[in-house]
Amino acid sequence: MEEKKKSEPILEMTDIRKEFSGVYALSGITFDLFAGEIHCIVGENGAGKSTLMKVLSGAYSPTGGSIRLFGETYDALTPTLSKALGIHIIYQENDLVPGMNVVENIFVGNEIAGPFGLIRFDEMLARTERQLKELELDLDPTCNVERLSVADQQFVKILKALSTEPKILIMDEPTSMFNVRDAQKVLKLAQMVARRGIGIIYISHFLEEIRQIADRITVIRDGAVVNTYENPGRDIELTKLTCDMVGRPIETFYQKERHEIGEIMLEVRNLKLKKDSPRIDFHVRKGEILGFSGMVGSGRTEIVRALTGADPKFSGEVYIHGREVKISNPRDSIQAGFAHITEDRQRLGLMLGNSVLENTTIVGLKEKIKGFFINVKDHPRLVEGLIKNLRVKTPSIWTDAIFLSGGNQQKVVLAKWLFADQEIYIFDEPTRGIDVNAKAEFYKQMSALTKQGKCIIMISSDMPELISMSDRILVIRDGRITGELQDEQISEQMIIKMALGVK
Ligand SMILES: Nc1ncnc2c1ncn2[C@@H]1O[C@H](COP(=O)(O)OP(=O)(O)OP(=O)(O)O)[C@@H](O)[C@H]1O
Ligand SMILES: [Mg+2]
Repeated sequence: MEEKKKSEPILEMTDIRKEFSGVYALSGITFDLFAGEIHCIVGENGAGKSTLMKVLSGAYSPTGGSIRLFGETYDALTPTLSKALGIHIIYQENDLVPGMNVVENIFVGNEIAGPFGLIRFDEMLARTERQLKELELDLDPTCNVERLSVADQQFVKILKALSTEPKILIMDEPTSMFNVRDAQKVLKLAQMVARRGIGIIYISHFLEEIRQIADRITVIRDGAVVNTYENPGRDIELTKLTCDMVGRPIETFYQKERHEIGEIMLEVRNLKLKKDSPRIDFHVRKGEILGFSGMVGSGRTEIVRALTGADPKFSGEVYIHGREVKISNPRDSIQAGFAHITEDRQRLGLMLGNSVLENTTIVGLKEKIKGFFINVKDHPRLVEGLIKNLRVKTPSIWTDAIFLSGGNQQKVVLAKWLFADQEIYIFDEPTRGIDVNAKAEFYKQMSALTKQGKCIIMISSDMPELISMSDRILVIRDGRITGELQDEQISEQMIIKMALGVK
């Protein structure tokens, strides 16, 4: 860092403000970046991280402040100018073109042409192969991107970014869709890219990651800088960071209260995804949290999707309180009492053009009106309570979901299912992209659900979370249940052993 600092910063943002209809999302942020540095930004959901990056990418014009880039000062940037200056932002959303292969995706809109405008595929392929080798990535450049794993698609996005020869690379939560091993690859990649002299701005809710790669860490709270740590190293205390983020120490994180586990509530027998898939049988008891563990791609998500009718299945009987229920689509599963919070929440879980209130009540209200046990006039009040408990940062419940930050949109999806008051909750990676404070709040809600006698199936790649919250864990490998652990048997080592199939 000291070495890097001998030169001038390549970027200096001074007193940046951004107002949205009277509310300041950024209230005077000063932030700089040196060539070859990894400068991390952390903060709660809605703190202003993505907004600051959108000012830098030219998507937003700031209300005040100035931006100095490579010696020139600007009041605002446009997307074209930002790109021309060598700023590249990797968005969370997938912006790859389906049906095209890796090389085509990397060079789309930026093709290498020979004489007479002929596209030089061989040259693009050669360059891609060279990049892959340099960055130690094992990926077939002629493979259609649709056939790649989510992790490999993310790597293609990074390669695409590098093909534009950026000077500043912005990574906004690049690992939120990854398991631990793939996340490590992304971190390594970021470090290699920085070594080429590119300045990296890295945003993540995984503080462990931040600790691993940061040359500097800036903490943002409510649109203002709270603290900047230089050379934090691995020794920086995470409690210090979270305290900066939240504004007070977080005492209890995993909030699990002991309570009674009752009779079998859900029983699944003979579930087969396809004709020759392995047979799956399991049950969950009243008040129990059943964890599904396994590597990404082990089939955990597929099992619960087949169970709730999100995907078709070959066979399987589902019993709730001993009575068989037929589930062939998501509507059946809601009727049967399931709440399925899917992995891909932003895309599948929200109506962005509708208000927080509408989004929260869409499933629950229908049921509630039918049962006549709710006064319709009461529901905004109920929703307000829920939104407050989950710490959704929004001007009001009447605000459209599209104006909420990524993490807060996810919390609205959780609120929707809590409001729906179902019996069997299935959470697929529920706390991805959610800040520490909201996580603690969510664990409290889980605990409350089981206390009310509901049951929960939780899929999570966050090992400490899974271990701390589950009463029992099923380990899934290659689409089958390969182990079951209960109480004291549950440990990270045992889970990993079973998940990998090591004796
Ligand atoms: N276009 C917009 N109109 C109105 N308000 C907005 C708009 N974009 C962002 N905001 C508000 O600005 C604040 C900061 O949002 P931002 O997306 O920058 O948060 P973030 O720090 O990236 O959070 P997360 O960790 O959830 O991604 C939020 O309160 C959000 O609701
Ligand atoms: Mg964000």
